[in-house]
Amino acid sequence: MLVNAAQMLKDAEAGHYALGAFNTNNLEWTLAILQAAEEAKSPLIIQCSAGAAKWMGGFKVCADMVKAAVEATGVTVPVALHLDHGTYENCLECIEAGFTSVMYDGSHEETFQINLDRTAEIVKIAHEKGISVEAEVGGIGGVEDGIVGQGEIADPEECKQIAALGVDFLACGIGNIHGVYPEDWAGLSFDALAAIKEAVGDLPLVLHGGTGIPVDQIQKAISLGVSKINVNTDLQLVFAAATREYIEAGKDLEGKGFDPRKVLKPGREAIVARAKELMEEFGSVNKA
Ligand code: G3H
Ligand code: ZN
Repeated sequence: MLVNAAQMLKDAEAGHYALGAFNTNNLEWTLAILQAAEEAKSPLIIQCSAGAAKWMGGFKVCADMVKAAVEATGVTVPVALHLDHGTYENCLECIEAGFTSVMYDGSHEETFQINLDRTAEIVKIAHEKGISVEAEVGGIGGVEDGIVGQGEIADPEECKQIAALGVDFLACGIGNIHGVYPEDWAGLSFDALAAIKEAVGDLPLVLHGGTGIPVDQIQKAISLGVSKINVNTDLQLVFAAATREYIEAGKDLEGKGFDPRKVLKPGREAIVARAKELMEEFGSVNKA
């Protein structure tokens, strides 16, 4: 059954490893990351953005699909279903739809006070229903779901104020970027991360934009308090590459090669393999 993400992230923070939080885009994605987590014996956070939910037919469709997939596959590892980068309204909808965790992304609000006030409201509503809450301070660069981020470095004092609201985990801007990193990327700001961790204590921190960060920086970030690492683009790239290889080899023209169960299979298998590699990198293998 689905669980919220609070305890699995507390365990990760205390155990100095991180959990991959993998965005799902459809049924094949969902089944692939579930298979990866079960084979790796890793706790799992499946997350969904508003844009991906719209593609699937809405948050309720996504929640019912993930819930049914977890039950039908009989996975034994703990799985949380998390709303990624939600607005206030998205959070309320997902709480009703059956999500077990929500991110209220108040980093785009006009003022920090609005972020603070609305985060407090979501914490109250979500916690009454046993649902975990992620907040955000500062900004993530790049583009996610059509939203352009400026990549502001999070202010440790603001992080402390948000943490005091009782959020379960906190995303902070530390120079991370959504999507593919530019060649001239300056790298993660470990000074900022250390100052934020100092300010928030044992609150698990979240690293957005997990695609393409060098392994040594990932592992240094984990050592400094990152316990959840969001990954979407990486799995999209491996899925696309495997599918392209299948099509360019003309396999869709051989017999029933055009059957979607055959066309989608290489990409689905590529997601399983890549997600397991990342779970190994993050240190969450055999932690379930
Ligand atoms: O919220 C989702 C993640 O931050 C995705 O980042 O597409 O760069 O892996 P990514
Ligand atoms: Zn993100």
